[in-house]
Amino acid sequence: MDWRTSNDMIARRVAAMRERFEDLKEKDLYFYNQPISELRGGASVIVNGREMGMYASYSYLGLVGHPRINQAAQDAVAKYGTGTHGVRSLAGTLDLHLELEDTIAEFKHADAAVTFTSGYVTNLTVVSSLMGRGDYVFSDKLNHASIVDGCIMSGAKFRRFRHNDMAQLESRLSKVPSGVSKLVVADAVFSMDGDIIDFPKIVEICKKHNAWLMIDEAHSLGVLGKTGRGIEEHFDLPGTIDIKMGTLSKTIPSVGGYVAGDKDVISYLRHASRAYIFSAALPPAQAAAANESFKVILDEPWRIEKLNANTEQFISGLQARGFDTMQTETAIVPVLCGSDEKAFAVTGHAQKNDLFVLPVVSPAVPVGLARLRATVLAAHEPDQIEYAMDVIAEAGKQFGII
Ligand SMILES: Cc1ncc(COP(=O)(O)O)c(C=O)c1O
Repeated sequence: MDWRTSNDMIARRVAAMRERFEDLKEKDLYFYNQPISELRGGASVIVNGREMGMYASYSYLGLVGHPRINQAAQDAVAKYGTGTHGVRSLAGTLDLHLELEDTIAEFKHADAAVTFTSGYVTNLTVVSSLMGRGDYVFSDKLNHASIVDGCIMSGAKFRRFRHNDMAQLESRLSKVPSGVSKLVVADAVFSMDGDIIDFPKIVEICKKHNAWLMIDEAHSLGVLGKTGRGIEEHFDLPGTIDIKMGTLSKTIPSVGGYVAGDKDVISYLRHASRAYIFSAALPPAQAAAANESFKVILDEPWRIEKLNANTEQFISGLQARGFDTMQTETAIVPVLCGSDEKAFAVTGHAQKNDLFVLPVVSPAVPVGLARLRATVLAAHEPDQIEYAMDVIAEAGKQFGII
């Protein structure tokens, strides 16, 4: 049976996806889901038996594999085992969870914090628990999928505004009937483009229109601000975010998500959010690793300084070689290639030359804006970054990008 002509939509979707990936595999252009078999310091990994420079990691400060963090995880396994006794509200809470939540609240200069088992789930459950029918939620067009899904799930009126377009946000807010609850949500650093939300303006607009402000710090925790505390520190605007969301899977080398904020809001989330009530707690090793990571960030400030220097070298070096790196100001560096085919070809060249870097293509980004989504880390050394840029530039020339 030919599924392409079948009336069964499920089968048609599955077949279309299979065909797309089979075609890429035949051309040796399928780069996803490659297993890493070993860490080699913070800057390299073993993939398919070869050591490769890591330019696709979220471990911005190079903390994955840090001895103190590994030790904290091992100690937690020895003390508590590998799992919990279920959901947080019943038998799942460990003293470790409360310790981690206190650490996060202190780090984020908030009253309190609550954790969940992934960043994705955090956005889903937090937006949908706070918002409901009759409310309005406003979301930047480039916000992460988990925010979009949370907005849809909430049942609130969902309004998107053009990326970083504060005039459009304000115009949309001004059309909301009075007396209605409003939430504005945005990424601090955008996960595909690496640019930063116009934070001073979004804060001002939210205040003016009496809207709650939620900021997702997945890619700004440990990255923005002198001590890595994030976007409020970066702009010197303390205490301006109502719902401070972040993940424990990027700079923090663990897994999970958190929200920090007012203690009554946090308590509400502990009693109303379905992901907290109906899903098992973070495992002990991951909670302990996350807790130790916040301490390491404060104890080793050189990592943030090195990340900033490496980011500057990587962005300016790629631009000097003729690449368009879009609006990035952070460690996420899009290297614009144009067509999906060109992005795959550049990736192939980079991987053959021992750079583990990955492409982002449509529909994750608009057609024509396919790119390498390269990341630079505190763990890289300047000569490694020069090598990476030279390899990418060779491919750029070969495939007519620069
Ligand atoms: C901006 C943003 N928010 C949320 C998430 C989801 O976080 P996690 O991977 O920890 O589930 C991501 C992950 O890529 C992200 O980039």
